[in-house]
Amino acid sequence: MNQLFKTLSQETFFEQYWQRRPYLFRQALPDFSDYLTPEELAGLALEEEVDSRLITRESNGAWSLQHGPLEPSIFSQLSESDWTLLVQSVDSLLPDTAQLLQHFSFIPGWRLDDIMVSYATPGGGVGPHIDQYDVFLVQGSGQRRWQVGTPQHDYEFRYPHPEIKQIAPFQALIDEVLQPGDVLYVPPNTPHDGVAVTPCMTYSVGFRAPSEALLVQQLLSNLAAQADHQSNLYQDQSLSGASTQALPPSALSWAKNALAGITDRQLISAFGEIVTEPKMEFEPEPIQSAESITALLAKLEQGKLEAPLSFHLAANCRFTYFQHEAQLLVFINGKVYEFSITYAEPIKKLLENRNYCIENVNISLQDIEFVNRIANLIKDGWVFFKH
Ligand code: SIN
Ligand code: CO
Repeated sequence: MNQLFKTLSQETFFEQYWQRRPYLFRQALPDFSDYLTPEELAGLALEEEVDSRLITRESNGAWSLQHGPLEPSIFSQLSESDWTLLVQSVDSLLPDTAQLLQHFSFIPGWRLDDIMVSYATPGGGVGPHIDQYDVFLVQGSGQRRWQVGTPQHDYEFRYPHPEIKQIAPFQALIDEVLQPGDVLYVPPNTPHDGVAVTPCMTYSVGFRAPSEALLVQQLLSNLAAQADHQSNLYQDQSLSGASTQALPPSALSWAKNALAGITDRQLISAFGEIVTEPKMEFEPEPIQSAESITALLAKLEQGKLEAPLSFHLAANCRFTYFQHEAQLLVFINGKVYEFSITYAEPIKKLLENRNYCIENVNISLQDIEFVNRIANLIKDGWVFFKH
């Protein structure tokens, strides 16, 4: 049976803990060593495009918060305790940190949000709070006391600072000091409070779940972009000259009809697009030049490719796929690509294994339609080839 972190079977974790109860995996990653130093984390917080926060508990009990980019001089003014620095999306900023994600591959990649890294000095933390999402808190260097309660839905919120949302003290189900390599799973809406015992690093592997509001927003924006604004206009059904300012019942039927046409394809596209939308905006850079793609296509067309050919997925891809009728819809970083299900085997292999070798699949590279569709992924920077 597949054991998670050599401690708990995957089955037990998903049946009893995932999205239900917190769980502490002691020594889940026994050889864990930090991906970055506190100084490197502080360096990231100086940068303009980086989302960072410095939270301090003052000696009079007040809390203060400063958003990045921080001034370098701020660090020399800090005491040796009671503050924490938190930086979002470190997996995108320092791709080495993304290696940590390999330990969480039991959750689909499209559910991932980001890795937030924090450095806290003794007494430092963000205070008792809840998050809406699942998170695995990986303890890096140092020790931290974590108290975690049971999930609830009615919390009394407190704002010791306008931007710090905390909750009232809660009863702890888990109250432990974490050591390097320990991993604490915290489900959504679960009270938790981590206070550094010694200077310490915490890696929060956070998962996201789309909200209905986000789905509706994406769906409507897609529909509006595709709509023909000149046709399907409302037509009067019941004007009789007896004028009233009220909307007629036909307005509701017309509106219902207008939305009844939403297809499964439109719904799944909106879903796939939002869940693969990258957390940090970035311009994809094609890994291979337009010339090298053209040269590859020419060789393929002439049947002149001598070496084995393999395709690989770029490291920065957030992706998923969905088979709908005769199509495989592939979502990569918020964009949809359509493939005929004839190509489902190689495309699924590419996505599930992050690469595939052309010799191992049942597709001829003389198939120009397939090659052109793969070429689109290469041009957009999501795929590269080796031969
Ligand atoms: C942290 O302080 O590193 C984690 C914050 C949290 O509990 O969300
Ligand atoms: Co939290």
